[in-house]
Amino acid sequence: MAASPHPDHKPWWADSAFYQAYPRSFADSNGDGVGDLDGVTAHLDYLSDLGVDAIWLNPVMVSPMADHGYDVADPRDIDPLFGDLTALDRLVTAAHERSIKLTMDLVPNHTSSAHPWFVEALAAVPGSRARELYIFRDGRGPDGTRPPNNWVSVFGGPAWTRVTEPDGRPGQWYLHLFDASQPDLNWDNPEVFADFEKTLRFWLDRGVDGFRIDVSHGMAKPPGLPDMAVTDVKLLAHQDDDPRFNRPGVHPIHRAIRAVVDDYPGAVTVGEVWVHDNAQFAEYLRPDELHLAFNFRLLQADFDAADIRDAIDNSLAAVASVDGTPTWALENHDVQRAVTRYGDGAIGLARARAMALVLLALPGSVFVYNGQELGLPEVELPEEALQDPVWERSGHTERGRDGCRVPLPWSGAAPAFGFSARADTWLPMPSDWAPLTVERQLGDPDSTLSLYRRALEIRRERAGSGTGVEWLPISDGALAFRRGGLVCALNTGERPVALPDGELLLASGPLSGAQLPPNTAAWLV
Ligand code: NOJ
Repeated sequence: MAASPHPDHKPWWADSAFYQAYPRSFADSNGDGVGDLDGVTAHLDYLSDLGVDAIWLNPVMVSPMADHGYDVADPRDIDPLFGDLTALDRLVTAAHERSIKLTMDLVPNHTSSAHPWFVEALAAVPGSRARELYIFRDGRGPDGTRPPNNWVSVFGGPAWTRVTEPDGRPGQWYLHLFDASQPDLNWDNPEVFADFEKTLRFWLDRGVDGFRIDVSHGMAKPPGLPDMAVTDVKLLAHQDDDPRFNRPGVHPIHRAIRAVVDDYPGAVTVGEVWVHDNAQFAEYLRPDELHLAFNFRLLQADFDAADIRDAIDNSLAAVASVDGTPTWALENHDVQRAVTRYGDGAIGLARARAMALVLLALPGSVFVYNGQELGLPEVELPEEALQDPVWERSGHTERGRDGCRVPLPWSGAAPAFGFSARADTWLPMPSDWAPLTVERQLGDPDSTLSLYRRALEIRRERAGSGTGVEWLPISDGALAFRRGGLVCALNTGERPVALPDGELLLASGPLSGAQLPPNTAAWLV
């Protein structure tokens, strides 16, 4: 299947559908119970038939996997769990043969504590060159027993860990905004960028088409590391005035990254930018910074027409000032599955399907997280199966993100449903997932997979048509918008509403005549 045509010479990513493959959970080629690169390569025809333009692959670099790859010990090699560099090359080639782009995930804010730099820093003395690559500080109080400031980790607990100095005495503290095994790098040190540039070029030279950049609003820390005003913050979340993130010094870093990426025409950068204020969000998308930034408003909106409309308006407004491309997602590997978020069971699924039509009608870049196209729900895992560091760091008060990371069911009647040759996969798969397998859904024209395939096909046929959204009048509790010639209507209310005028192209569920039932969306032309 050919990539979307862009008659107006927009870059390939401007109106594209990205598929987020969480490599541990997509497909296991070697029977160890964990997904891998050859597993992705083996299912490229599935992705091609699904109709996506690009893949975003979560980190596959060498890692102890304390945060499943977001703790990188060697940024320029593949972890043996996922394969090796030749497996990556095979994937890039096979994806390109199908006109699918491949983007990788880079983690500039921190490394693994197993990275040789950090190992060296621990063995070195305070003030040494090795320590200057990270954020080491003396503690407060008489014997330095209190952390240097009051920052907390996004995963729970303090953001500082005290080290034992080489002479055996309790010593300095190092900063880790995430797990203690993910020490933050010191981006004020030019060696850090010099090494990151090597990493960017290493993968781009191998033919990858760009990067998702983890914690793009991190990296720069405020001078003097001032205390947080409030430390009783929600885990895995933060506000714009939080000193740990979104500091002005992050923008020169993005400009330096962009200068390198511009050497590779067509390469794209997608930043993870948890910034709420539209003006500040837009700064990341200035012409010499990131190409794209994730906007999480749609994903955070309730299943409520007014909320959803507000999220769409806001996401469009956020990029308007810089003439940027909007991005849209309903799921990723960090949030609860949409089916469950919207109410679970049949209602949750109906709503998630309806939201799929809203998502895929929007202009810009859309991201589909693996399993979303199958309507997978969040899995309630037994406590002993939980692996997310959030579970331990929160003192077992937050279960973390494992429930949305359960492997994909491909075929058959029992775990591992074709995901792996062994039944005991890295996270256990629910035994009642047979109706959700790819195999079953491909044979059912009304399945969620069939809905995604048809919607992506229509989206692709209409690529490039309409970069804005025109709101149309519709009854309370519903929304309708036109993008290009396509009208999308969604009913989040409790009673059926009249469909807008037009010829029906697609609906997320059964319609009743010219009425759009609750929890349903439709496309018309
Ligand atoms: C954001 C990633 O999406 C998440 O999975 C990870 O735990 C943190 N960044 C830390 O790298």
